[in-house]
Amino acid sequence: MKFVVLMTSLVCCGNVVLCHEKEIIEDLLNVIIKLKAVKKNGSYGAARLAVPAFTVTLSKHLTPQVNQIIKFESVKTNIGGHYSASTGIFTAPRNGLYMISATIRPNGSSYLHCEIQVNGEMKEKLVGTRGSTGTANAVLQLKKGNKVFIKKDHRGGENMMGKDWSMFSGYFIA
Ligand SMILES: *[C@@H]1O[C@H](CO)[C@@H](O)[C@H](O)[C@H]1NC(C)=O
Ligand SMILES: *[C@@H]1O[C@H](CO)[C@@H](O)[C@H](O)[C@H]1NC(C)=O
Repeated sequence: MKFVVLMTSLVCCGNVVLCHEKEIIEDLLNVIIKLKAVKKNGSYGAARLAVPAFTVTLSKHLTPQVNQIIKFESVKTNIGGHYSASTGIFTAPRNGLYMISATIRPNGSSYLHCEIQVNGEMKEKLVGTRGSTGTANAVLQLKKGNKVFIKKDHRGGENMMGKDWSMFSGYFIA
């Protein structure tokens, strides 16, 4: 459609540059942006869906070791495939702002303590108490390749409820 507008402008105006310079540049930019989106993945909708995002839960009861990275093994959403169920790590595919969340619930122990970490550095602490969940949300500025995960802290003898009571999720904001 933009091409039609562009061609009409070209035909109607002898002096394209003087008549519609601003409009034509805007049309050209739109065409380029749309062509890039199409090239990425067949349609505009699919290109928009390529926003990195994941939601994963724990399906099996777990007694994590001290300082163990929690491997949430039930993958519900993993657009772009940047979360690995075999390591429990989400690797940021590009620089930018990300929303990261986690919820944990103990199963048996009175408490369950974990941390949201980036490249091994603590960003936020999480605690769940018997019968209730603990949640942390973090808006983080990440660099491409940064590794985000939920790690058991230094306290031993705590355990984590499965059956989707504990989860980890995140998405690229901008
Ligand atoms: C491209 O679209 C297809 C579905 O049409 C989807 O399966 C695939 O994951 C998409 N690729 C990316 C990079 O998002
Ligand atoms: C809680 O832990 C017990 C083992 O101690 C396990 O059998 C049970 O499935 C766990 N419940 C959930 C919801 O993970």
